[in-house]
Amino acid sequence: MAAVILIGTQWGDEGKGKITDFLAEKADMVVRYQGGNNAGHTVVINKETYKLHLIPSGIFYPEKVCVIGNGLVIDPKVLIEELEYLKDKGVSTDNLRVSGNAHVIMPYHRILDVLEEEYKGDQKIGTTKRGIGPAYKDKASRTGIRVLDFLDKDELAAKLQYNLKEKNLLITKVYGQEALSYEAVLQECLEYAERIRPYVGDSSLEINHFLSDGKKVLFEGAQGTLLDLDHGTYPYVTSSNPVAGGACIGAGVGPTRINKVVGVVKAYTTRVGEGPFPTELTCQTGELIREKGGEYGTTTGRPRRCGWLDAVITRYAVRISGISDFAFTKLDVLTGMDTLKICTAYRYKGEVLHDFPQSLKVLSECEAIYEEMPGWQEDLTEISEYSQLPEQAKNYIHRLEELTGVPVTMLAVGPGRNQTITRG
Ligand code: GTP
Repeated sequence: MAAVILIGTQWGDEGKGKITDFLAEKADMVVRYQGGNNAGHTVVINKETYKLHLIPSGIFYPEKVCVIGNGLVIDPKVLIEELEYLKDKGVSTDNLRVSGNAHVIMPYHRILDVLEEEYKGDQKIGTTKRGIGPAYKDKASRTGIRVLDFLDKDELAAKLQYNLKEKNLLITKVYGQEALSYEAVLQECLEYAERIRPYVGDSSLEINHFLSDGKKVLFEGAQGTLLDLDHGTYPYVTSSNPVAGGACIGAGVGPTRINKVVGVVKAYTTRVGEGPFPTELTCQTGELIREKGGEYGTTTGRPRRCGWLDAVITRYAVRISGISDFAFTKLDVLTGMDTLKICTAYRYKGEVLHDFPQSLKVLSECEAIYEEMPGWQEDLTEISEYSQLPEQAKNYIHRLEELTGVPVTMLAVGPGRNQTITRG
Protein backbone atom coordinates (compact mmCIF):
# COMPACT_ATOMS: atom_id res chain seq x y z
CA MET A 1 0.00 0.00 0.00
CA ALA A 2 1.50 3.30 -1.06
CA ALA A 3 -0.49 5.81 0.99
CA VAL A 4 -2.24 4.92 4.24
CA ILE A 5 -4.07 7.26 6.57
CA LEU A 6 -4.36 6.23 10.19
CA ILE A 7 -7.05 7.91 12.29
CA GLY A 8 -8.71 7.67 15.68
CA THR A 9 -12.36 6.60 15.53
CA GLN A 10 -13.42 7.75 19.00
CA TRP A 11 -12.40 10.74 21.15
CA GLY A 12 -8.67 10.22 20.71
CA ASP A 13 -6.30 8.18 22.91
CA GLU A 14 -7.19 4.99 21.04
CA GLY A 15 -3.55 3.88 20.98
CA LYS A 16 -2.74 5.40 17.59
CA GLY A 17 0.89 5.93 18.63
CA LYS A 18 1.48 2.21 18.97
CA ILE A 19 -0.28 1.31 15.70
CA THR A 20 1.58 4.10 13.88
CA ASP A 21 4.81 2.70 15.23
CA PHE A 22 3.82 -0.76 14.00
CA LEU A 23 2.81 0.47 10.51
CA ALA A 24 5.75 2.85 10.28
CA GLU A 25 8.06 -0.14 10.07
CA LYS A 26 6.78 -0.74 6.54
CA ALA A 27 6.60 2.93 5.52
CA ASP A 28 9.28 5.16 4.02
CA MET A 29 7.74 8.34 5.39
CA VAL A 30 5.47 9.21 8.32
CA VAL A 31 3.48 12.45 8.16
CA ARG A 32 1.50 14.28 10.82
CA TYR A 33 -1.20 16.43 9.26
CA GLN A 34 -3.11 18.31 11.98
CA GLY A 35 -3.13 19.44 15.60
CA GLY A 36 -0.14 20.41 17.62
CA ASN A 37 1.45 19.35 20.87
CA ASN A 38 -2.00 18.47 22.24
CA ALA A 39 -1.46 14.95 20.92
CA GLY A 40 0.29 12.50 23.17
CA HIS A 41 1.71 9.44 21.54
CA THR A 42 3.25 6.81 23.75
CA VAL A 43 5.50 4.21 22.16
CA VAL A 44 7.14 1.36 24.08
CA ILE A 45 10.28 -0.03 22.45
CA ASN A 46 12.34 -2.72 24.18
CA LYS A 47 10.60 -1.96 27.49
CA GLU A 48 11.56 1.72 27.28
CA THR A 49 8.66 4.20 27.11
CA TYR A 50 8.90 7.23 24.85
CA LYS A 51 6.41 10.07 24.82
CA LEU A 52 6.04 12.46 21.93
CA HIS A 53 3.61 15.32 21.50
CA LEU A 54 4.58 16.85 18.20
CA ILE A 55 7.18 14.89 16.25
CA PRO A 56 5.73 11.83 14.44
CA SER A 57 6.47 8.64 16.32
CA GLY A 58 8.04 7.20 13.13
CA ILE A 59 11.17 9.08 14.23
CA PHE A 60 12.21 5.96 16.17
CA TYR A 61 13.12 4.35 12.83
CA PRO A 62 16.29 6.18 11.76
CA GLU A 63 15.82 5.61 8.02
CA LYS A 64 12.25 6.96 7.81
CA VAL A 65 11.54 10.53 6.84
CA CYS A 66 9.17 12.17 9.35
CA VAL A 67 7.11 15.18 8.40
CA ILE A 68 5.31 17.84 10.41
CA GLY A 69 2.83 18.93 7.74
CA ASN A 70 1.34 22.31 6.88
CA GLY A 71 -1.86 21.50 8.79
CA LEU A 72 -0.16 21.65 12.18
CA VAL A 73 0.36 24.49 14.59
CA ILE A 74 3.86 24.29 16.02
CA ASP A 75 5.08 25.57 19.35
CA PRO A 76 8.78 26.13 18.56
CA LYS A 77 9.71 25.80 22.23
CA VAL A 78 8.09 22.36 22.40
CA LEU A 79 9.64 21.30 19.10
CA ILE A 80 13.10 22.21 20.40
CA GLU A 81 12.43 20.38 23.68
CA GLU A 82 11.39 17.25 21.76
CA LEU A 83 14.47 17.47 19.55
CA GLU A 84 16.61 17.60 22.68
CA TYR A 85 14.66 14.78 24.36
CA LEU A 86 15.25 12.55 21.34
CA LYS A 87 18.93 13.52 21.15
CA ASP A 88 19.35 12.58 24.83
CA LYS A 89 17.76 9.20 24.10
CA GLY A 90 20.18 8.68 21.20
CA VAL A 91 17.44 9.00 18.55
CA SER A 92 18.51 10.80 15.35
CA THR A 93 16.33 13.66 14.10
CA ASP A 94 18.20 14.20 10.82
CA ASN A 95 15.20 12.92 8.85
CA LEU A 96 12.70 15.33 10.33
CA ARG A 97 11.02 17.83 7.99
CA VAL A 98 8.85 20.77 9.02
CA SER A 99 6.50 22.44 6.55
CA GLY A 100 7.21 26.13 5.98
CA ASN A 101 3.45 26.61 5.72
CA ALA A 102 2.61 25.25 9.18
CA HIS A 103 1.54 27.91 11.67
CA VAL A 104 3.46 28.90 14.78
CA ILE A 105 2.04 28.89 18.31
CA MET A 106 3.26 32.15 19.78
CA PRO A 107 3.63 32.89 23.52
CA TYR A 108 0.44 34.99 23.46
CA HIS A 109 -1.53 32.01 22.10
CA ARG A 110 -0.63 29.96 25.18
CA ILE A 111 -1.60 32.82 27.50
CA LEU A 112 -4.89 33.47 25.70
CA ASP A 113 -5.78 29.77 25.76
CA VAL A 114 -5.67 29.83 29.57
CA LEU A 115 -7.44 33.19 29.93
CA GLU A 116 -10.20 32.34 27.43
CA GLU A 117 -10.96 29.05 29.16
CA GLU A 118 -11.18 30.77 32.55
CA TYR A 119 -13.43 33.44 31.06
CA LYS A 120 -15.82 30.81 29.66
CA GLY A 121 -16.57 29.45 33.16
CA ASP A 122 -18.99 26.54 32.90
CA GLN A 123 -18.99 26.93 29.08
CA LYS A 124 -15.34 25.85 29.04
CA ILE A 125 -14.21 23.35 26.41
CA GLY A 126 -11.55 21.59 28.49
CA THR A 127 -8.66 22.51 26.17
CA THR A 128 -5.11 21.39 26.84
CA LYS A 129 -4.14 25.08 27.25
CA ARG A 130 -1.21 24.74 24.85
CA GLY A 131 -2.28 27.63 22.62
CA ILE A 132 -3.52 25.35 19.85
CA GLY A 133 -7.03 26.85 19.53
CA PRO A 134 -5.87 30.50 19.53
CA ALA A 135 -3.20 29.69 16.92
CA TYR A 136 -5.78 28.08 14.62
CA LYS A 137 -8.06 31.06 15.26
CA ASP A 138 -5.35 33.39 13.91
CA LYS A 139 -4.79 31.06 10.96
CA ALA A 140 -8.48 31.38 10.03
CA SER A 141 -8.37 35.15 10.61
CA ARG A 142 -5.36 35.33 8.28
CA THR A 143 -3.23 37.02 10.91
CA GLY A 144 -1.25 33.91 11.87
CA ILE A 145 2.52 33.63 11.65
CA ARG A 146 3.70 30.74 9.49
CA VAL A 147 6.99 28.93 9.90
CA LEU A 148 8.41 30.68 6.82
CA ASP A 149 7.50 34.09 8.29
CA PHE A 150 9.02 33.02 11.56
CA LEU A 151 12.37 32.37 9.88
CA ASP A 152 12.39 35.76 8.14
CA LYS A 153 13.40 38.41 10.67
CA ASP A 154 11.65 41.34 8.94
CA GLU A 155 8.42 39.42 8.32
CA LEU A 156 8.42 38.17 11.89
CA ALA A 157 9.04 41.65 13.34
CA ALA A 158 6.21 43.21 11.31
CA LYS A 159 3.71 40.41 11.96
CA LEU A 160 4.57 40.25 15.63
CA GLN A 161 4.12 44.00 16.02
CA TYR A 162 0.65 43.86 14.47
CA ASN A 163 -0.40 40.79 16.43
CA LEU A 164 0.97 41.89 19.76
CA LYS A 165 -0.85 45.20 19.58
CA GLU A 166 -4.15 43.35 19.29
CA LYS A 167 -3.33 40.56 21.75
CA ASN A 168 -2.02 42.97 24.38
CA LEU A 169 -5.29 44.88 24.20
CA LEU A 170 -7.13 41.63 24.93
CA ILE A 171 -4.72 40.55 27.62
CA THR A 172 -4.79 43.89 29.47
CA LYS A 173 -8.23 45.38 28.79
CA VAL A 174 -10.41 42.25 28.66
CA TYR A 175 -8.55 39.93 30.99
CA GLY A 176 -6.76 42.50 33.22
CA GLN A 177 -3.35 40.85 32.90
CA GLU A 178 0.09 42.28 32.20
CA ALA A 179 1.02 43.07 28.59
CA LEU A 180 3.74 41.10 26.82
CA SER A 181 6.91 42.90 25.80
CA TYR A 182 7.47 43.08 22.04
CA GLU A 183 11.26 43.06 22.43
CA ALA A 184 11.27 40.03 24.73
CA VAL A 185 8.94 37.99 22.51
CA LEU A 186 10.87 38.92 19.36
CA GLN A 187 14.20 37.96 20.93
CA GLU A 188 12.83 34.61 22.11
CA CYS A 189 11.41 33.88 18.65
CA LEU A 190 14.64 34.76 16.84
CA GLU A 191 16.54 32.29 19.00
CA TYR A 192 14.01 29.53 18.34
CA ALA A 193 14.02 30.28 14.61
CA GLU A 194 17.69 29.39 14.28
CA ARG A 195 17.15 26.07 16.00
CA ILE A 196 14.35 24.94 13.72
CA ARG A 197 15.62 26.41 10.43
CA PRO A 198 17.56 23.28 9.33
CA TYR A 199 14.36 21.19 9.33
CA VAL A 200 12.11 23.53 7.35
CA GLY A 201 11.14 22.91 3.72
CA ASP A 202 8.32 22.30 1.23
CA SER A 203 6.95 19.11 2.72
CA SER A 204 4.01 18.76 0.29
CA LEU A 205 6.50 18.64 -2.57
CA GLU A 206 8.60 16.00 -0.86
CA ILE A 207 5.59 13.83 0.09
CA ASN A 208 4.29 13.92 -3.49
CA HIS A 209 7.73 13.00 -4.81
CA PHE A 210 7.81 10.03 -2.45
CA LEU A 211 4.39 8.89 -3.69
CA SER A 212 5.36 9.34 -7.34
CA ASP A 213 8.45 7.21 -6.71
CA GLY A 214 6.24 4.40 -5.36
CA LYS A 215 7.40 4.86 -1.78
CA LYS A 216 5.11 4.16 1.15
CA VAL A 217 3.72 7.08 3.12
CA LEU A 218 1.82 6.82 6.39
CA PHE A 219 -0.35 9.78 7.41
CA GLU A 220 -0.73 9.79 11.16
CA GLY A 221 -3.81 11.46 12.64
CA ALA A 222 -3.86 12.84 16.16
CA GLN A 223 -6.95 13.08 18.42
CA GLY A 224 -10.03 11.36 16.95
CA THR A 225 -13.18 11.55 14.84
CA LEU A 226 -15.40 12.94 17.58
CA LEU A 227 -12.89 15.70 18.26
CA ASP A 228 -12.96 16.83 14.63
CA LEU A 229 -13.80 20.51 14.20
CA ASP A 230 -16.45 19.78 11.56
CA HIS A 231 -17.62 16.26 12.37
CA GLY A 232 -17.03 15.98 16.09
CA THR A 233 -19.13 16.86 19.12
CA TYR A 234 -18.84 20.62 18.55
CA PRO A 235 -17.99 22.76 20.50
CA TYR A 236 -16.18 20.09 22.56
CA VAL A 237 -13.71 19.46 19.78
CA THR A 238 -10.21 20.30 18.71
CA SER A 239 -9.50 23.15 16.28
CA SER A 240 -8.40 20.97 13.37
CA ASN A 241 -9.60 18.01 11.25
CA PRO A 242 -8.35 14.62 12.51
CA VAL A 243 -10.63 12.73 10.07
CA ALA A 244 -9.13 11.17 6.94
CA GLY A 245 -10.01 14.14 4.73
CA GLY A 246 -7.82 16.29 6.97
CA ALA A 247 -4.75 14.39 5.79
CA CYS A 248 -5.10 15.70 2.24
CA ILE A 249 -5.42 19.30 3.40
CA GLY A 250 -2.86 19.12 6.17
CA ALA A 251 -0.19 17.39 4.11
CA GLY A 252 -0.81 18.80 0.65
CA VAL A 253 -1.75 15.59 -1.21
CA GLY A 254 -4.78 14.86 -3.39
CA PRO A 255 -7.48 12.37 -2.29
CA THR A 256 -6.86 10.17 -5.35
CA ARG A 257 -3.41 9.32 -3.97
CA ILE A 258 -4.77 7.62 -0.85
CA ASN A 259 -5.10 3.82 -0.93
CA LYS A 260 -6.23 2.84 2.53
CA VAL A 261 -7.71 4.32 5.72
CA VAL A 262 -7.07 2.50 8.99
CA GLY A 263 -9.35 3.41 11.90
CA VAL A 264 -8.01 2.75 15.39
CA VAL A 265 -10.75 1.56 17.76
CA LYS A 266 -10.12 1.06 21.44
CA ALA A 267 -11.90 -1.98 22.92
CA TYR A 268 -13.85 0.44 25.13
CA THR A 269 -14.49 4.19 24.88
CA THR A 270 -12.79 7.08 26.67
CA ARG A 271 -13.17 10.79 26.61
CA VAL A 272 -11.20 13.69 28.09
CA GLY A 273 -12.84 17.00 28.86
CA GLU A 274 -16.45 18.06 28.76
CA GLY A 275 -19.41 16.97 26.63
CA PRO A 276 -21.94 14.14 26.23
CA PHE A 277 -20.79 10.51 26.31
CA PRO A 278 -23.66 7.98 25.98
CA THR A 279 -21.75 4.86 27.10
CA GLU A 280 -19.95 6.51 30.02
CA LEU A 281 -19.54 4.33 33.10
CA THR A 282 -19.62 6.42 36.25
CA CYS A 283 -19.59 3.28 38.42
CA GLN A 284 -16.78 1.01 39.65
CA THR A 285 -16.48 -0.71 36.25
CA GLY A 286 -15.47 2.65 34.75
CA GLU A 287 -12.84 3.08 37.47
CA LEU A 288 -11.56 -0.43 36.89
CA ILE A 289 -11.12 0.24 33.17
CA ARG A 290 -9.38 3.55 33.95
CA GLU A 291 -6.90 1.91 36.31
CA LYS A 292 -6.25 -1.19 34.19
CA GLY A 293 -6.02 0.79 30.97
CA GLY A 294 -3.91 3.58 32.46
CA GLU A 295 -6.48 6.05 31.17
CA TYR A 296 -4.80 9.29 32.19
CA GLY A 297 -3.83 11.90 29.59
CA THR A 298 -0.27 11.62 28.22
CA THR A 299 -0.09 15.39 27.84
CA THR A 300 -2.05 16.65 30.83
CA GLY A 301 -2.29 13.68 33.25
CA ARG A 302 -6.06 14.25 33.45
CA PRO A 303 -8.15 11.14 34.28
CA ARG A 304 -10.12 10.04 31.23
CA ARG A 305 -13.84 9.29 31.42
CA CYS A 306 -14.36 5.61 30.53
CA GLY A 307 -17.28 3.65 29.05
CA TRP A 308 -18.34 0.68 26.94
CA LEU A 309 -17.56 0.23 23.25
CA ASP A 310 -19.98 2.24 21.15
CA ALA A 311 -20.71 0.87 17.66
CA VAL A 312 -22.82 3.93 16.78
CA ILE A 313 -19.65 5.99 17.07
CA THR A 314 -17.45 3.56 15.14
CA ARG A 315 -20.04 3.33 12.34
CA TYR A 316 -20.04 7.12 12.18
CA ALA A 317 -16.23 7.17 11.94
CA VAL A 318 -16.44 4.66 9.07
CA ARG A 319 -18.88 6.94 7.24
CA ILE A 320 -16.92 10.17 7.71
CA SER A 321 -13.48 8.77 6.88
CA GLY A 322 -14.20 5.86 4.53
CA ILE A 323 -12.35 3.48 6.82
CA SER A 324 -11.20 0.28 5.10
CA ASP A 325 -9.61 -1.52 8.09
CA PHE A 326 -9.78 -1.42 11.84
CA ALA A 327 -6.94 -1.72 14.32
CA PHE A 328 -8.59 -2.86 17.58
CA THR A 329 -6.51 -1.89 20.62
CA LYS A 330 -6.32 -2.58 24.36
CA LEU A 331 -8.26 -5.84 24.24
CA ASP A 332 -6.06 -7.08 27.09
CA VAL A 333 -7.53 -4.41 29.39
CA LEU A 334 -10.94 -6.14 29.27
CA THR A 335 -9.57 -9.47 30.54
CA GLY A 336 -11.33 -10.58 33.73
CA MET A 337 -14.72 -9.02 33.06
CA ASP A 338 -17.61 -11.47 33.27
CA THR A 339 -19.81 -9.53 30.89
CA LEU A 340 -18.99 -6.98 28.21
CA LYS A 341 -21.43 -4.54 26.69
CA ILE A 342 -21.49 -3.07 23.20
CA CYS A 343 -23.75 -0.15 22.39
CA THR A 344 -25.54 -0.94 19.11
CA ALA A 345 -27.96 2.02 18.90
CA TYR A 346 -29.26 4.96 20.94
CA ARG A 347 -32.71 5.54 22.38
CA TYR A 348 -33.86 9.12 22.03
CA LYS A 349 -37.29 9.99 23.44
CA GLY A 350 -38.63 6.51 22.65
CA GLU A 351 -37.12 6.46 19.15
CA VAL A 352 -34.24 4.12 18.22
CA LEU A 353 -31.34 5.89 16.47
CA HIS A 354 -28.85 3.79 14.51
CA ASP A 355 -26.92 6.77 13.22
CA PHE A 356 -24.89 9.20 15.28
CA PRO A 357 -27.06 12.32 15.77
CA GLN A 358 -25.95 15.65 14.34
CA SER A 359 -27.20 17.63 17.30
CA LEU A 360 -25.21 17.71 20.51
CA LYS A 361 -28.43 18.40 22.40
CA VAL A 362 -29.96 15.20 21.00
CA LEU A 363 -26.77 13.27 21.79
CA SER A 364 -26.82 14.47 25.39
CA GLU A 365 -30.33 13.03 25.78
CA CYS A 366 -29.53 9.70 24.11
CA GLU A 367 -29.48 6.52 26.13
CA ALA A 368 -27.26 3.66 24.97
CA ILE A 369 -28.94 0.43 23.86
CA TYR A 370 -26.62 -2.44 24.79
CA GLU A 371 -25.98 -5.95 23.71
CA GLU A 372 -24.28 -8.12 26.33
CA MET A 373 -21.55 -10.61 25.55
CA PRO A 374 -19.61 -12.97 27.80
CA GLY A 375 -16.09 -11.76 28.64
CA TRP A 376 -12.89 -13.81 28.92
CA GLN A 377 -10.56 -14.54 31.83
CA GLU A 378 -7.38 -15.43 29.94
CA ASP A 379 -4.37 -13.11 29.79
CA LEU A 380 -3.99 -11.95 26.18
CA THR A 381 -0.68 -10.14 26.46
CA GLU A 382 1.50 -13.04 25.28
CA ILE A 383 -0.73 -14.06 22.39
CA SER A 384 0.76 -13.53 18.95
CA GLU A 385 -1.67 -15.45 16.70
CA TYR A 386 -5.33 -14.67 16.15
CA SER A 387 -6.25 -18.34 16.44
CA GLN A 388 -4.90 -18.45 20.02
CA LEU A 389 -7.37 -15.83 21.27
CA PRO A 390 -10.19 -17.07 23.54
CA GLU A 391 -13.47 -17.64 21.70
CA GLN A 392 -15.18 -14.85 23.67
CA ALA A 393 -12.54 -12.35 22.47
CA LYS A 394 -12.98 -13.52 18.89
CA ASN A 395 -16.74 -13.10 19.25
CA TYR A 396 -16.27 -9.57 20.57
CA ILE A 397 -14.07 -8.69 17.57
CA HIS A 398 -16.47 -10.36 15.16
CA ARG A 399 -19.43 -8.44 16.59
CA LEU A 400 -17.65 -5.12 15.98
CA GLU A 401 -17.06 -6.18 12.38
CA GLU A 402 -20.72 -7.12 11.95
CA LEU A 403 -21.97 -3.88 13.45
CA THR A 404 -19.72 -1.71 11.26
CA GLY A 405 -19.04 -3.73 8.09
CA VAL A 406 -15.29 -3.17 8.44
CA PRO A 407 -12.72 -5.94 9.04
CA VAL A 408 -10.39 -5.86 12.03
CA THR A 409 -6.99 -6.50 10.45
CA MET A 410 -4.82 -5.55 13.43
CA LEU A 411 -5.19 -6.20 17.13
CA ALA A 412 -3.23 -4.83 20.07
CA VAL A 413 -2.95 -6.91 23.24
CA GLY A 414 -0.41 -4.78 25.10
CA PRO A 415 1.59 -1.58 24.77
CA GLY A 416 4.76 -3.24 23.39
CA ARG A 417 5.80 -3.18 19.74
CA ASN A 418 5.50 -6.96 19.47
CA GLN A 419 2.12 -7.20 21.23
CA THR A 420 0.33 -6.72 17.93
CA ILE A 421 -1.57 -9.41 16.03
CA THR A 422 -2.20 -9.06 12.31
CA ARG A 423 -4.99 -10.79 10.51
CA GLY A 424 -5.16 -11.32 6.74
P1 GTP B 1 -3.70 10.78 20.87
O1 GTP B 1 -3.09 11.08 19.54
O2 GTP B 1 -3.44 11.83 21.89
O3 GTP B 1 -5.15 10.51 20.77
O4 GTP B 1 -2.97 9.44 21.45
P2 GTP B 1 -2.95 7.90 21.10
O5 GTP B 1 -4.13 7.49 20.32
O6 GTP B 1 -1.62 7.56 20.49
O7 GTP B 1 -3.08 7.20 22.47
P3 GTP B 1 -2.07 7.27 23.73
O8 GTP B 1 -0.70 6.97 23.26
O9 GTP B 1 -2.34 8.47 24.53
O10 GTP B 1 -2.69 6.10 24.63
C1 GTP B 1 -2.45 4.87 24.41
C2 GTP B 1 -1.85 4.27 25.68
O11 GTP B 1 -2.19 2.93 25.69
C3 GTP B 1 -0.34 4.30 25.71
O12 GTP B 1 0.11 4.31 27.04
C4 GTP B 1 0.05 2.99 25.02
O13 GTP B 1 1.32 2.48 25.39
C5 GTP B 1 -1.04 2.11 25.53
N1 GTP B 1 -1.47 1.05 24.62
C6 GTP B 1 -1.61 1.07 23.26
N2 GTP B 1 -2.10 -0.09 22.82
C7 GTP B 1 -2.29 -0.87 23.92
C8 GTP B 1 -2.82 -2.18 24.12
O14 GTP B 1 -3.24 -2.88 23.21
N3 GTP B 1 -2.88 -2.61 25.42
C9 GTP B 1 -2.47 -1.88 26.47
N4 GTP B 1 -2.56 -2.39 27.69
N5 GTP B 1 -1.97 -0.65 26.31
C10 GTP B 1 -1.90 -0.15 25.06
